[in-house]
Amino acid sequence: MIIDTHAHYDDEAFNEDRDAVLRSLKEEDVSLVVNIGASMESSERTVELVKQYPFVYAAVGVHPDSAKELTEEKLVRLRELAGADKVVAIGEIGLDYYWDSSPRDVQKYWFLRQLDLAMELELPVVIHSREATQETLDIMKEAYRRSQGTLRGVIHCFSAGPEIAKEYTDMGFFIGIGGVVTFKNGKKMKEVAASIPFDKLVLETDCPYLAPEPNRGKRNHSGYLIYVAEQIGTLRGVSAEEVIRVTEANARALYTRLP
Ligand code: NI
Repeated sequence: MIIDTHAHYDDEAFNEDRDAVLRSLKEEDVSLVVNIGASMESSERTVELVKQYPFVYAAVGVHPDSAKELTEEKLVRLRELAGADKVVAIGEIGLDYYWDSSPRDVQKYWFLRQLDLAMELELPVVIHSREATQETLDIMKEAYRRSQGTLRGVIHCFSAGPEIAKEYTDMGFFIGIGGVVTFKNGKKMKEVAASIPFDKLVLETDCPYLAPEPNRGKRNHSGYLIYVAEQIGTLRGVSAEEVIRVTEANARALYTRLP
């Protein structure tokens, strides 16, 4: 069964039919979903959402775009949320120098503070990095060193090349692969999906965004991960079933609090 390691079902794109979409996932061979917070508000929504669906788990954290909203008080609230039922990770956190929606020094400051929180709570991290490849890697290397090799996590929507992927997988981090691997212009992603250690690869939608071919441009959902599994299988010379079996075990190794 498929585990979607990164979804945003609290997004307004699902306001009309969230319940129907989530309830249909079992028929699409999706066993578990981790819904990822991206702001204080969406982290709050995520913790509420997981109460309603036994197969949905939570990550709480503030994305770099929203880093400017963070304060010491809100970090206290985030720590409380992290202790809620079914929270399996801190994220998504990181750096986004593409949108630059928060000043870079502010992004970096709250990225580090949330990494510290994850280490303190012994939770894995969900990392978002856009146009900030080297700086994110430097920060993760330093955090890994400070954690004495105990920090776990996933580099979500990975967009760098195989060399950077190896730097992360050598530290034991997982690489999240989604719809982009099916795109015609997703050459770099295809190289990464083919070359990283199989035990470090996890499936993710980032829904409602990044639907895979043949549904590119539509609203994404976890049921479409079969297309991602098929593409990865083709690239690695194994069946889609094998990709699903291996990535399911990997998702549980990443988020150890999943059942
Ligand atoms: Ni996301």
